[in-house]
Formats: sequence, structure tokens, C-alpha cells
Amino acid sequence: MVKICCIGAGYVGGPTMAIIAYKCPDIEVVVVDISLPRIAAWNSEQLPIYEPGLDGVVKQCRGKNLFFSTDVEKHVCEADIVFVSVNTPTKTRGLGAGKAADLTYWESAARMIADVSKSSKIVVEKSTVPVKTAEAIEKILTHNSKGIKFQILSNPEFLAEGTAIQDLLNPDRVLIGGRETPEGQEAIKALKDVYAHWVPEEQILTTNLWSAELSKLAANAFLAQRISSVNAMSALCEATGADVTQVAYAVGKDSRIGPKFLNASVGFGGSCFQKDILNLVYICECNGLPEVAEYWKQVIRINDYQKNRFVNRMVSSMFNTISNKKIAILGFAFKKDTGDTRETPAIDVCKGLLGDKARLSIYDPQVTEDQIQRDLSMKKFDWDHPLHLQPMSPTTVKQVAVVWDAYEATKDAHGLCILTEWDEFKTLDYKRIYDNMQKPAFVFDGRNVVNGDELRNIGFIVYSIGKPLDAWLKDMPAVA
Ligand code: NAI
Repeated sequence: MVKICCIGAGYVGGPTMAIIAYKCPDIEVVVVDISLPRIAAWNSEQLPIYEPGLDGVVKQCRGKNLFFSTDVEKHVCEADIVFVSVNTPTKTRGLGAGKAADLTYWESAARMIADVSKSSKIVVEKSTVPVKTAEAIEKILTHNSKGIKFQILSNPEFLAEGTAIQDLLNPDRVLIGGRETPEGQEAIKALKDVYAHWVPEEQILTTNLWSAELSKLAANAFLAQRISSVNAMSALCEATGADVTQVAYAVGKDSRIGPKFLNASVGFGGSCFQKDILNLVYICECNGLPEVAEYWKQVIRINDYQKNRFVNRMVSSMFNTISNKKIAILGFAFKKDTGDTRETPAIDVCKGLLGDKARLSIYDPQVTEDQIQRDLSMKKFDWDHPLHLQPMSPTTVKQVAVVWDAYEATKDAHGLCILTEWDEFKTLDYKRIYDNMQKPAFVFDGRNVVNGDELRNIGFIVYSIGKPLDAWLKDMPAVA
């Protein structure tokens, strides 16, 4: 029986390994992590991450050919294939701070693999890493290996949170990069055989190591760029009376462009887009390509601009002051169907509103109060000026209440603001909400989920991103 061990039981390691175990009953999969609470949660009824469909898959395989353990060394030692799916955040200090990927976790995992291994192994980069990381990992492994042979593969993950299970079951492609030596090709074949249990052969792409590593950064940069492009258009739509939904539909009908990832919003979030673009920017700078670096930086600048623009629009509409006004925040996760709040635009929007002394009442169906309070009290990471981190004043968090119901959040509020596109926000009883709010009652829809005209008929003043502005909003122009 082939044995797989995955280091890192996070948003990628957990679901990816669950699907491998589910589709390959002849393979034993053990997911290991240094975090005791995380592994305990994977072994419990309450999994550590919310992902539609994940529960069922884990329950079907756990204890049969899928295991979760903190005994990292034992399971790495026993494995034929070791996936490394640890976190690779942006460095916040030192050389490359604000842009480069922090490979501390990766390096310590590689050193541990070299230390505990007693047999040859295939080591698979699952984490998103800078191009050429495999070379560094190879050096660590071979210099510490006591004669054991390691083959390094790059197998970046393209799943999206919220649809991870469907993405893993029906991937657009699986990408495997390896050395162009006979041993490298043999290792590629071994990993290909795992995916071939359920992925059609023509969808399993094989490349050299560097192409695979760079493809992941490139794919995320292209996806984020589409969002920043449509968001940049949304500002122009508001200025001209065009409707961004109509523009995006017309643009996306061009088969060379396609309709996906063209929804205007308050901005992209998630643990990957910003981090991976910054990493790409750093690699460009290190390779003497400042123009290319500048080009990609602009994608993040537009994202920051969009979040600022949204806050400014809110403040200016509400008579240029939100001091001590209650504002309901509906949605805090970075997208629907996940509880993940990493880099969620809600953090910047809420901090912007708190900076203007608003009182916030926040509701998200999947994010805990603890998480929200932690996110809002964390220092703001300024990627462009990483050495000048601004600590939040600890008192501001007292202006935040986290509630478990959209009606409670909006009661007596002056404005409500939708920051995550949860389906349930489309079907709320907005008449009831309106009746219980202060007047004039404002809706700021950062995800374009509500029908603006229906809400206007109830009596709300509505701002929807990139849509023609109400007369009220036109009279109160926001400066970005
Ligand atoms: P995560 O933070 O949810 O999980 C990483 C886990 O690794 C943590 O539980 C941590 O305790 C564990 N860990 C760190 N060092 C360890 C060590 N030495 N030994 C054992 N466990 C260790 O991160 P996530 O979101 O799963 O991301 C992992 C990688 O996958 C990142 O490089 C990310 O860029 C990439 N990725 C993430 C996607 C996402 O949607 N979250 C999608 C595609 C790629």
C-alpha cells in the first residue's frame, strides 16, 4: 500500500488529502500538523474549517485510510510520498519585508524530513512558493540526507475556498512539475498515478519544476487582475452612469475574455491573492524587472483603492460623519461558504469605519466573535511601507459588537453594509429591517447581492458598487 503523509492540516492540506483518501482506497493518507487543537478538531465532529461537502468525505474515510495526527516525525518517516502544505505568509520584517514569502515553516519541514527519513521519498510542494524554492529544498534535503534519495515535485493547488471539494473532485487541471532526469520523470509518474484514480489523464499537466512553481503565482495574479480590472471599471461606471453588471456581461460575452471573475465588489481578499502577487513582485524586482513588478503592484493598489473608496462613499453619504452612529456589517468572511477571514476586505472596511468612530454591529454566519475581535485588533499590515506598521488603538474594538442574527445587527442602525455575498442576505426581510432602522436608512452593498430598486421602493437609500447612483449619493460625492 502506498503511504502518503501531508505536513500541514490547513485549508489546503485537509481537503486535498481527504479527497485523495476518498478516491484512492488503496492509499493510506495521514495528515500531520504541529497544532494540537487543529488535529483534535479534524478528529472531532466539528472540523476546523467550514467547506461545503467536506464533512461527508472526511466521515467516510476517517479511520479507514485517512488519519490525522500530531506525530509528525513517525508518519513522515513511514511515507513514500510527503506533501508539504504548510503556510507561506508574506515576510513582515527583514530582507524582502512586505513582499517576499516567508519560508520559515517550509524550511523547518524540509529539515525535519531530512532528519527523520530512513528511506527514499518523493517530496511534493503543495504550498504556494516562490519560483526556485524546489532548488533550495533540494539542497537542504540532499545535504542532510545521510545518502537517502529525495525527488522534489511541484504540485501547486488551484482549489478555491468555498468550492474546494468540487474543485478537487473536478479540477480544471492538475499540474505536476519535476526534474527532467529519469528519476524526476519516475517521480512525476508516481504522483500522476495517484491523481489518475479520478482525474482524466489529459487534465494532468506535467512541466519542469520552475514552470509549475511560477504557474501558480501567475494564475493567482491573473485572477486577481480580473477583479481589479472590473473594480477599476466600477468607479468609472459610477462617474458616468454606466452599470458595471451590464458592462461586465457585455465584456464577458467575448469568448476570448469569458464571463468568470468579473463581478465588481468591495475588493478581493483571502490568504492567497495579495500574498502571491507580492511574492511575484519581489521575484520580478530580484530579477531586475522593475517595470514588470510595477505592473503587478497596481493590481493590489486598485484593490486598496476600492476598499477606501467604499468607506469614503459610506461616510460622505451619511452627512460626512459616522461618529457614534451604529452601522450593521453583514458578512465578515472573505467570500461566501467559508469561515476564513484572512485578508478579508471586511477588516479594512471595518477599520476605516472605526477610524471615523462608528459603532459596528457585525453578523457573519460562519465567523466567530473571537475571530472578528482578533482580526480587528491586529496591526494593519501596510505592504507598501512594511516598516511603518500602525497599531490599532485597543479602545476601538470596544465599538464592535458581534451578533448572531442580521435583524439584531441592523436594529436601530443608521446604515447597513454587505461585505460578503452569503446567499441568505438576498432573502432577508428588508421591509422589517427598514422599519427597525434610523432614518434615512442606508444600504451599502459591497457585493451587489440585493436588488437596489426593490430596496429603494421600501425607502432605503442604496449604494451598489458600479451602479448608477441615487440622486442622494450624487449630491454627496465621495473622494477616494
Ligand atoms: P493554513 O495556515 O490553513 O495551514 C497550514 C498548516 O501548516 C497550519 O495548520 C500549521 O500549523 C501547519 N504547519 C506549519 N508548519 C508546520 C510544520 N513544520 N510541521 C507541521 N505542520 C506545520 O494554510 P493553507 O491555507 O492551507 O495554505 C497552505 C499553503 O497552500 C500556502 O502556501 C498557500 O499559499 C497555499 N494555497 C492556499 C489556498 C487556499 O485557498 N487557502 C489555495 C491554494 C494554495
